[in-house]
Amino acid sequence: MTIRRMVRDDLTQAAALEEKCFGTDAWSLQAFADALEDANALYLSGVEEGTLVAYCGIWKSFEDGDITNVAVEEIHRKKGYARLLLKQLMEEASLSGVENFTLEVRESNLPAIRLYESLGFVTEGVRKDFYRNPKENALIMWKR
Ligand SMILES: CC(C)(COP(=O)(O)OP(=O)(O)OC[C@H]1O[C@@H](n2cnc3c(N)ncnc32)[C@H](O)[C@@H]1OP(=O)(O)O)[C@@H](O)C(=O)NCCC(=O)NCCS
Repeated sequence: MTIRRMVRDDLTQAAALEEKCFGTDAWSLQAFADALEDANALYLSGVEEGTLVAYCGIWKSFEDGDITNVAVEEIHRKKGYARLLLKQLMEEASLSGVENFTLEVRESNLPAIRLYESLGFVTEGVRKDFYRNPKENALIMWKR
């Protein structure tokens, strides 16, 4: 997998992967397009043979960075791609001053929770009924 900045040509594939992963909670193509235009956002694509297989993104606010999206195509999971992408995302964000990283995750999403823990995130709070369809609490995780 090659990692590079997300570009406009990735948007259709990114929105399709997002919808496969998150259904009605998915970001729209327009939401990704807006993020690419946002100077405080940073999005990375993981590409194999010209096809987008993974992506992640962060929204930066001074020394804090909110990891907004992470997804890997099902057939490419458990190969270390998400960890690689997130490590690079955090490295790049730290070059522009981000010191602390946060994210929300469904409390039943064990693959994602294990992934974040393996990167040094710890659960600092719970946001009750944060998600809909189905309704579920969010864990708020931080890596400081
Ligand atoms: C969560 C997700 C991004 C993980 O992507 P991935 O590329 O498969 O993850 P990696 O291969 O980099 O795994 C890194 C670590 O995460 C943990 N992990 C990943 N998948 C796991 C699983 N199915 N069960 C338990 N732990 C898992 C492991 O600790 C793993 O380290 P190890 O392989 O050394 O044991 C992927 O499952 C996905 O796209 N899920 C759907 C979208 C989603 O839920 N995104 C997160 C929203 S908050």
